[in-house]
Amino acid sequence: MKEGWIYLPLFLLYRIMETKEIIEEIKFLFALKGNENYGENVTQQEHAIQCYQLAVSAKADLNLRVAAFLHDIGHLKYQDEEGREKDMKHENWGSTLVKRWGFGEEVASLILTHVWAKRYLVSCEPFYINRLSAASLRSFQLQGGLMTDEEVEAAKNHPYFHKALMLRRWDDTGKQIDIESEIPESVWADLAECLMVNRSFD
Ligand SMILES: [Fe+2]
Repeated sequence: MKEGWIYLPLFLLYRIMETKEIIEEIKFLFALKGNENYGENVTQQEHAIQCYQLAVSAKADLNLRVAAFLHDIGHLKYQDEEGREKDMKHENWGSTLVKRWGFGEEVASLILTHVWAKRYLVSCEPFYINRLSAASLRSFQLQGGLMTDEEVEAAKNHPYFHKALMLRRWDDTGKQIDIESEIPESVWADLAECLMVNRSFD
């Protein structure tokens, strides 16, 4: 029993090194593809930053802030030009990726739900469709369009329903042109903390 404690510092050191590696991989992805057009005169990086900052302003918890920054990571990792014309399920790619990195079930789930949250809001809020940009409206149709009554009920019963809607509203707001384009240090600090916390419960 006593000897086991010897391994704790080694375990923590290993976790810290793993976390650093994952953060470097994400930095590399943004350096490589963050300047690509998100589809509304905003780059992928600018959009991710704006969604994160909206989450910070709303005093969102750690998992939600991280999900806000990473919700479109599937585009950065796997999207190609052809993929923009069909639904390439970037939410599935992104969710799988963050789960593999170890950001935890909640972050992965929020990335998955940010697409149906748009379908929910358009289906249930009369004027929400007016908030969608042309690109978002196009993907809305590709992603299934209006929800059925059964889908609406299922959405309401989702464990992260309220957080999913919050993230979706930031997603549709975080498309302002000509604002901060440098990723704040607090993003990397949040990502590292989220990894350290969630990977410990693997
Ligand atoms: Fe987005």
